Amino acid sequence: QPPEARLRLFRLLATLKRNPLECWSAEFFREPIARVGLPFTDAFLVHDPAAIRHVLVDNADNYRKDPIQRRILASGLADGLLSVEDARWETQRRMLAPLFARRAVAAFTEAILTAVDRLTARWRSRVPGAAFDVAAEMALLTLDVLALTIFSDGIAGDYDEFRSAMNAYFAVIGRIGALDLLGVPQSVPRPGRARLRRTLDYFEGIIDRIIDTRRRVLAGLPAGEGPSDLLTPLLRALDPSTGQSLSLAEVRSNILTFLSAGHETTANALSWSIFLLSQSPDWRYRVREEAARELAGPVEGLTDRLVVTRAVVEEALRLYPPIAALSRMTKDADTLGGVAVKPRSLIVIAPYVLHRHLLLWEQPNAFDPARFMPARRGTIGRFAYLPFGIGPRICIGASFALQEATIALAALMQRFDIMLSPDAKVWPLQKITLRPESGLPMRVTPRDCG
Ligand code: HEM
Repeated sequence: QPPEARLRLFRLLATLKRNPLECWSAEFFREPIARVGLPFTDAFLVHDPAAIRHVLVDNADNYRKDPIQRRILASGLADGLLSVEDARWETQRRMLAPLFARRAVAAFTEAILTAVDRLTARWRSRVPGAAFDVAAEMALLTLDVLALTIFSDGIAGDYDEFRSAMNAYFAVIGRIGALDLLGVPQSVPRPGRARLRRTLDYFEGIIDRIIDTRRRVLAGLPAGEGPSDLLTPLLRALDPSTGQSLSLAEVRSNILTFLSAGHETTANALSWSIFLLSQSPDWRYRVREEAARELAGPVEGLTDRLVVTRAVVEEALRLYPPIAALSRMTKDADTLGGVAVKPRSLIVIAPYVLHRHLLLWEQPNAFDPARFMPARRGTIGRFAYLPFGIGPRICIGASFALQEATIALAALMQRFDIMLSPDAKVWPLQKITLRPESGLPMRVTPRDCG
């Protein structure tokens, strides 16, 4: 390779490691399909709606979750819905779908409001106008919601221990990824591996104890009774063809999957919504007016009535999709949008690029929640907006996440003035999820203060 080409490749790899988001150059926002020169694979960035449909829906069997993603997800999450494939995935998806159906998820409204009330009490105990990292607070909020919806009161008392063990757990999974990514076999010793294993075992032990206690509680109850959270139906779900329930490894993996898939993603959706509203007095006013009216009404149907707030969340998910890129690997050779793709090609569909694509959106970089208001919503193409993916592997928690973000945003905007600190610099960083690079330093003041 000539030296300039090597330099270009080196720069690309360095950027990929630092912030993959910065790899997208102008052409990707104009071209429906673009080829990228990676050293070992053919890679294609696909932002043509028909080609996306081909990959994620019509020929999903030929476009598999790529091995890089799967290696990162290995370990404790390996037996969960996000990682399993083929027949096991089909069975699990069928068993878990009822847990996340719209009606089941509507029952979580109380848990969401409880977690928001806890956050409100914490914020009210601070000095009015104090600046702190609102993104970190959103991560605490969404974890609280997950703890309440998965276990109801199952981890009461040990909450801080649970949270620090969980954070250590996911940090380790991220680190293990680096060697696994290179395909180094598991038999090769890793530095510090025993310590890492202890961190994993510790948190998995906590989850196993919670499962064990719940199993014993449910054994003494009639079939329809038990705490109304996700753990009860997870333990009671039966495979329709064999009549068997999930194994302990599968229950544990799915709990870890819900915690990891539903935590940072929803926190980022909320953080970006709050940030965007801090820049838009007009939409801030509309959200507050709606929140004052609707939060005073019945809890039933609350998410459906928060039309403006939900449009803000959906617009935030467009501009800053928490999962900024999806990837797949081709099994057999295929033709994609007229381009020949070999087996084992990497296909990247980046919602971040798609949602700002010049061929698909008017003024793509402008914050305009009106796009998602009922009058205009129908004009958005089915394959132009994919914050939750599409096709068989679409996010199972989409209704849950939208409901949580909508209700929490409405309540927080009604209760607090949340304004960006004057010296804050906000820039999106893609590190598994799309987050503000240096957090969100914001000044928070209760609205009924003074
Ligand atoms: C899958 C995004 C919240 C659980 C996915 C996928 C995306 C996504 C894009 C598809 C990945 C692919 O096709 O490669 C999001 C976003 C969220 C969110 C943006 C918040 C705003 C949640 C929540 C849960 C959850 C709250 C559960 C508590 C899952 C699971 C899968 C998944 C289990 C795998 C589904 C399967 O493969 O069958 N999510 N998610 N997600 N998500 Fe979410």
